[in-house]
Amino acid sequence: MEIAEETWARLREEALEAVTHAYAPYSGYRVGAAALAEDGHVYTGCNVENASLGVVLCAECGLVSSAVRNDAGRLLAFVCVNGEGDAIAPCGRCRQVLREHGGRGMLLAMPRGIMRMDEVLPESFGPEAMEGHTAGATTETPAPASDARARKDGDKEGHERG
Ligand code: THU
Repeated sequence: MEIAEETWARLREEALEAVTHAYAPYSGYRVGAAALAEDGHVYTGCNVENASLGVVLCAECGLVSSAVRNDAGRLLAFVCVNGEGDAIAPCGRCRQVLREHGGRGMLLAMPRGIMRMDEVLPESFGPEAMEGHTAGATTETPAPASDARARKDGDKEGHERG
């Protein structure tokens, strides 16, 4: 999928705004993230650190949480910046978090340019691997809305789209 230049510029602006809210008193490393979702909205997040130093919430976690909360659908394009405004690579854990909600075809503005998720996280483990293996899940358990959408669309527009 093509993402227009002005959309990338808007995502960068939103990430730069998000980074101003970062809570990073321990590392001093501020992060802001923004993504365009299928619903046409931009979702953002910033890192939130903790006095218990291992309990860090990366900027991507806030972004994904907000997108899922709002039934945003698949994430299409993503930008992440540090406090200097440089594009940064999402950490390994966040690549996996983004992959779940963006699929293999999600686009990321990496330090060396736009890359697809399947380049950034090759041979990834994703929701399709769990099909038929959700032991303990019942029909009473509401699936995340984004998963429901993926199934409804026969996976062509959902998380499995590569
Ligand atoms: N950080 C993020 O928010 N996202 C990433 O993808 C990389 C790292 C944060 C976590 C921590 O608060 C700070 O950057 C330094 O690692």
